[in-house]
Amino acid sequence: MVDERRQPHTDAVLRRSLLFVPGDSRRKLEKATTLPADSIALDLEDAVAPEHKVTARQTVREALQTLHFGKRERLVRLNAWRTGLLAEDVRETLPARPDGYIIPKVSSADELAAAWGVIREYAQGVGIDLSEIAVLVLIETARGVLNLPAIAAFGSPLQALIFGADDLAADVGMIRTPSNLEVLYPRAAVALTAAAYGLQAIDLVFPRLDDPEALAAECQFGRQLGYTGKMVIHPSQIEIVNRAFSPSDEEIAQALRIVQAAAAHPAGAFALDGRMVDEPIVKQAQGVLARARAAGLLTESA
Ligand code: COA
Ligand code: MG
Repeated sequence: MVDERRQPHTDAVLRRSLLFVPGDSRRKLEKATTLPADSIALDLEDAVAPEHKVTARQTVREALQTLHFGKRERLVRLNAWRTGLLAEDVRETLPARPDGYIIPKVSSADELAAAWGVIREYAQGVGIDLSEIAVLVLIETARGVLNLPAIAAFGSPLQALIFGADDLAADVGMIRTPSNLEVLYPRAAVALTAAAYGLQAIDLVFPRLDDPEALAAECQFGRQLGYTGKMVIHPSQIEIVNRAFSPSDEEIAQALRIVQAAAAHPAGAFALDGRMVDEPIVKQAQGVLARARAAGLLTESA
């Protein structure tokens, strides 16, 4: 059977770090243009107080029109479908041509379809090519977790699932702990579902600003689960996250060795350095090399 999934590690935009910036803060939006995040989320939702929602739309629109984000991806996080604010968020920001939208608190495929319907309608109204608008969804409600496969199967324009632990905890009545054990099931489910549907998986927010070692450890565990990137909320977190979600020199060297050895052993399993290498190991190595290439760490077409 032919596997028709897209290959997220090879053909998607690099999204190791996704920096959230309050949409009503011109100062922080300006600052974001100087920071090394792969993607910038200009936030209209949780970082903005209800009384600032209207001005935040204008601030975000102007930031998109006037600031130079360089190669950083520019995403707008909308308010959730059920707030009734989403359509106006889209109408005000779409003419400023963001690279895509983050839709929060997506609980069902119908809700995603409704939100995308609004984006599609306005985009067509102003003559924007739909293929130029990426959609990323936050899975952060109990129903969103239960409906993961249907949401992930939405197809184009959906590119990534993002795991929101704190809103999920509020929805479920979980008690959050630094161990993240209470969110292990949904956190793993988001990464697994993303892989099943050829999407990127972006991991939870690390809320502390003063503990780089714990942040690095949380990144590492996210990678072990299959995450390809992580949300960040402060400049000090970006480089730690970029490093964690880029393959290390040792991983790249090992992957090159495996791929080269596999080319010399086209038939089935073989032994390398005292370990068995078979097709899944070669595929993992190819994934490492694809991520290395995307991060600019490997230039030749190895
Ligand atoms: N994006 C861009 N710049 C940011 C930033 C962010 N998320 N967080 C902090 N900065 C800037 C500050 O403006 C400051 O720059 P300046 O001195 O040039 O003004 C510098 O980085 C250092 O910031 P610091 O003083 O340590 O933090 P703060 O007290 O200004 O802000 C937070 C702390 C948590 C309020 C801030 O990091 C923030 O707003 N984070 C995003 C929150 C968010 O979006 N939440 C929703 C998604 S979960
Ligand atoms: Mg939230």
